[in-house]
Parts: sequence; structure tokens; C-alpha cells
Amino acid sequence: MACVFRADGFVVIHEDTPGAESFVPRGAALPVLASAVQQCRGCPLHRKATQAVFGAGRPQPSMVLLGEQPGEQEDREGLPFVGPSGRVLRELLIAADIDVEDVFLTNVVKHVYVESHGRRRVHRRPHGAMVAACRPWLEEELARTKPPVLVCLGAIATRAILGKDVRVTQASGATFSTTIAPVVIATLHPSALLRARTPRALADARSRMLDDLARARSHAARGR
Ligand code: URA
Ligand code: SF4
Repeated sequence: MACVFRADGFVVIHEDTPGAESFVPRGAALPVLASAVQQCRGCPLHRKATQAVFGAGRPQPSMVLLGEQPGEQEDREGLPFVGPSGRVLRELLIAADIDVEDVFLTNVVKHVYVESHGRRRVHRRPHGAMVAACRPWLEEELARTKPPVLVCLGAIATRAILGKDVRVTQASGATFSTTIAPVVIATLHPSALLRARTPRALADARSRMLDDLARARSHAARGR
């Protein structure tokens, strides 16, 4: 990998990972950003991906739901949360009485992270350096959408917004206020439901996510 992690937590950016800054038209409208992100070479992830997947949804949303990175299907279609995790998420939104048409969906990292092992494509979680490299795109999405509520789905999104020491399992159930959004709620990633090994684990994960989404919904309603 083209980046070095120092013990003090700083990431040394290699020439391969200059960061997205010089590719981002700061202050541009969402459609302009969505088109510009296709040219981003801020980290090596663009090389193996089909395309970048920018956020999508309502430009003035009731809430932003922040995932990790595109999966296979998102990489092919160019839209966030259109694969198996997205199906789970959309079903949860319906159950929590949140209109998907009212929200904006996006990810911390805009290109899929896959490695080829022979003919197999293996998905990896983004490193801290990729999250840092990609951050300007997320900053612009949040600056344009100004969500009253930001829901972090899973550990990568939670850490990106609330800091590296925050664990999603502890943060779930709480409500945070940050300069990024007045209300931040951390919850599990919908893939936790796909990975649950027992009916009990599935029911627990689902009810936790529904509780967190219900809180997000009530804060969003108050913010109107
Ligand atoms: N998982 C994510 O975190 N984001 C997507 O867009 C799809 C799957
Ligand atoms: Fe740029 Fe982000 Fe894609 Fe890396 S993952 S190339 S920083 S858009």
C-alpha cells in the first residue's frame, strides 16, 4: 500500500495518495462535484474501480446517511446503496418510517476498494489514508446538503465523523452534536444484518438499527 501509518496516528501520504484536494471544485453544486469526482486521482483506489460513486438523493435532505464505500453493484451502477446492503438499508428506512426520497445517501470513500487474487475480486475496508484522502468530497457533500441529522452507518463512518477513538457499538444509542452536523447518530452498518449468524444476532442488530433510525427520524422532524 502506498501509505505509511506512524505510531502517533499520523499518516504519511505517499506520492500515490496526494489526497483529493486538488481535484475538488470547492463550493461547486452537487452535480458539478458528482462529475468532477470521476477525475479524482487522490488515492490509488480509482485504478481498479469502474467509476466513482458520489452521494445521491435529496439536495436538502431530512438526513444524510453515511456508509463506508461502494460495493460491487454500486461500482457498476454508479449509485450508492443499490446492492445487498442497500436493500437492507431501504427496508430498514421503510420500517422506521423514513422516506428514502427525503434523504441523501453517501459514503466516506467514493471508489470501491477491491484487490484481485487470481480471478477472485476481494473487497477490503478502506485504510485511514484513503479516508483522509477522500475527505474533501465528503466535506463538500455535507456543506451543500447541510443535513440537520447525520447518520453514520458502521465503524468507518463513525470514526470519520466522531474521531478514531469512538466505537460504533458504544456510540449507538447516543446522540452527538458536532460542527459537521447539529445531530450525529452512529449505528451499525446494514451489512451487519447480512452477516448475522443466528436469528438472535439478526434480531438484535435490526432492533438496534431501528432504534437509532427512529431517533434520527424524530430529530429530523424537529429540525424542519
Ligand atoms: N456499503 C456501503 O457502505 N455503501 C454502499 O454504497 C454500499 C454498500
Ligand atoms: Fe479520489 Fe476518493 Fe476515489 Fe481516492 S477514493 S481516488 S480520494 S475519489
